[in-house]
Amino acid sequence: MARLDKIYLGTNTKMYKTISDTVAFLSELKELTADIDRTKMELFVIPSFTALEAAKRTVSDNSIKIGAQNMSWAEEGQFTGEISPIMLKEIGINIIEIGHSERRHVLGETDEEEKGKVLNAVKHDFTPLLCIGETLKQKDYGISDEILSMQLKIGLSEITKEQAKMLWVAYEPVWAIGVNGIPADEGYADEKHAVIKKTLISLFGEEIGSDIPVLYGGSVNNENAECLIKKPNIDGLFIGRSAWNADNFNKIIHAVIPLFFEKK
Ligand code: PGA
Repeated sequence: MARLDKIYLGTNTKMYKTISDTVAFLSELKELTADIDRTKMELFVIPSFTALEAAKRTVSDNSIKIGAQNMSWAEEGQFTGEISPIMLKEIGINIIEIGHSERRHVLGETDEEEKGKVLNAVKHDFTPLLCIGETLKQKDYGISDEILSMQLKIGLSEITKEQAKMLWVAYEPVWAIGVNGIPADEGYADEKHAVIKKTLISLFGEEIGSDIPVLYGGSVNNENAECLIKKPNIDGLFIGRSAWNADNFNKIIHAVIPLFFEKK
């Protein structure tokens, strides 16, 4: 698998950071990473809904892409509490995160719902960042590959080859995420990325499937980021806790970029 020509690095701030926290974080991150050529890196931050407008204003030069943590499968209607793609488009953000482990396992979203959200995102010209990953139980049963392939096949079932060019995928094993997470070792993560890439190729063909970036997420930190990014099938990192301090995130960013470009 050839290396992609860009590295993908981003964070989802979950239900942390107020509007002012987000603006301060983005301003600092923008300044710290100003030396990095954006044709070689997609840097993105996915803050809370209330912070989106201010976030977009803070990085209106697109040096850091902004995403939403969720979006409805519908455009408008009697769906109290949901957010429409039309509303997000108005803010001018780029990315929609879909199916994060906490949406699936804490808030009960299904693959069918993720499918509708992916479709709605591409229809409105957003980059859907589809998150997939197996639970510890599924890993113990030895069915991780089947679960990943199922999540992709259902989630992407209505996406055309043309629309697939807009897609990003994050592999985030449920057992590796958050304060109680055990980081996946880089060998295991790379093996699962290979399974994901194979499935994407089976869905969209060699040319389009192998160009879809697949990011690893789940307890990425200053210790394991370098080993992970050196792996052939890992195109980027999707980081939680270790990225919420701009200085620390910047340290990881600067450490992994040269290693990514050394890969064949
Ligand atoms: P973490 O979160 O890096 O804090 O484990 C990752 C994620 O939920 O995307």
